[in-house]
Amino acid sequence: MALRIAVLKERAPGEDRVALTPETAKKFAALGATVAVEEGAGLGAAITDEAYRDAGAEVGPAAVAVKDADIVLGVQAPDVAALSGAKQGAWVAATFDPFRNGDTVEAYAKAGLEALSMEFMPRITRAQSMDVLSSQSNLAGYKAVLTAANQYGRAFPMMMTAAGTVQAAKVFVMGVGVAGLQAIATARRLGAQVSATDVRSATKEQIQSLGAKPIFVEDVEGIEGEGSGGYASEMSEEYRNAQAELVSGHIAKQDIVITTALIPGKPAPRLISDAQIASMKPGSVIFDLAVAQGGNVEGSKPDEVVEKHGVTIVGYSNTAGHLATDASALFARNLYNFLSAFWDKEAGKPVLDEEIGDAVRLTQGGKVVNERLAG
Ligand code: NAI
Repeated sequence: MALRIAVLKERAPGEDRVALTPETAKKFAALGATVAVEEGAGLGAAITDEAYRDAGAEVGPAAVAVKDADIVLGVQAPDVAALSGAKQGAWVAATFDPFRNGDTVEAYAKAGLEALSMEFMPRITRAQSMDVLSSQSNLAGYKAVLTAANQYGRAFPMMMTAAGTVQAAKVFVMGVGVAGLQAIATARRLGAQVSATDVRSATKEQIQSLGAKPIFVEDVEGIEGEGSGGYASEMSEEYRNAQAELVSGHIAKQDIVITTALIPGKPAPRLISDAQIASMKPGSVIFDLAVAQGGNVEGSKPDEVVEKHGVTIVGYSNTAGHLATDASALFARNLYNFLSAFWDKEAGKPVLDEEIGDAVRLTQGGKVVNERLAG
């Protein structure tokens, strides 16, 4: 029997992405798998049922698609109840947000499913093409700048016109990981004057190479180099105070601020206080990309645009999802790159190695097995 891969329509409100595209459906079929998709699963990403059928996938109701599935793919992990027809021990490769969704992880364990959390993909060179956090953050960084530009009542580039000069917008990017780098590049392409900050010293050169100005705490040591696995950790009180002071002076002169700072397994660090918002010019715009993780900005609200002290604060929790077609294409390729890299031709299915398998596997044999979730 060919390995059966099933994909359901995403059920979370506002989630337009899909975990499989016709391109990856074809590629999985070429590996010998049968691919089954729930009707309408791709519509939010402008993919028709017909396109899936043309790619060789079965298209049908959810229960039929998932029946006897060996592997289920999702953008956000499906509800366990939707997976009752899948095989015992079936894999579910999706994002689980495991630190915040303990109940879901437990439910997957109880149901005997093997949850593979794509957010836990290790940051190693060979896993780069499998990394959904990177692919989605990149798009989110781009879209955040466009959304902020749209909210802003003025232009981004400097324009010299017969009626006078329009000043270039000043954009400040806080947190220069994947999303932040793309935000800098996008704001630069739109003609803004860009500055950026991070706690990891390795980002200084990256900021400069994109033509932006680094704004860094100098008198208290930050995180040397890339940080552990490319990730930041919580900073000391001394650092946070020095950063707050530095930012206070800078932020009052900015028109647009994009915040992207995250710390894995922890709430997002608070980078902008209400008093700092009050110091900005009316009409300024802040986009808080960390809003779903608790937010970098005081008063930002998930999926709302709020106004405080004349400053617009945008907080979309699924910014990559606002570019559903590209986001799905990249997400689906990440999943294909992951599973195909481990494809065992003899067995006709993927067999994970320890380094990546143990990192992403949350549940197995009825138990929660991931080290990062222990205790
Ligand atoms: P992230 O989404 O976890 O965090 C975003 C940024 O916020 C990071 O640059 C972080 O240093 C910064 N940040 C955290 N706390 C802060 C604070 N208090 N103030 C200012 N900034 C703060 O990070 P992301 O974007 O997922 O990746 C970070 C780095 O990891 C990348 O630049 C890259 O070098 C590396 N990476 C490596 C991969 C691989 O090798 N497979 C894949 C993806 C990323």
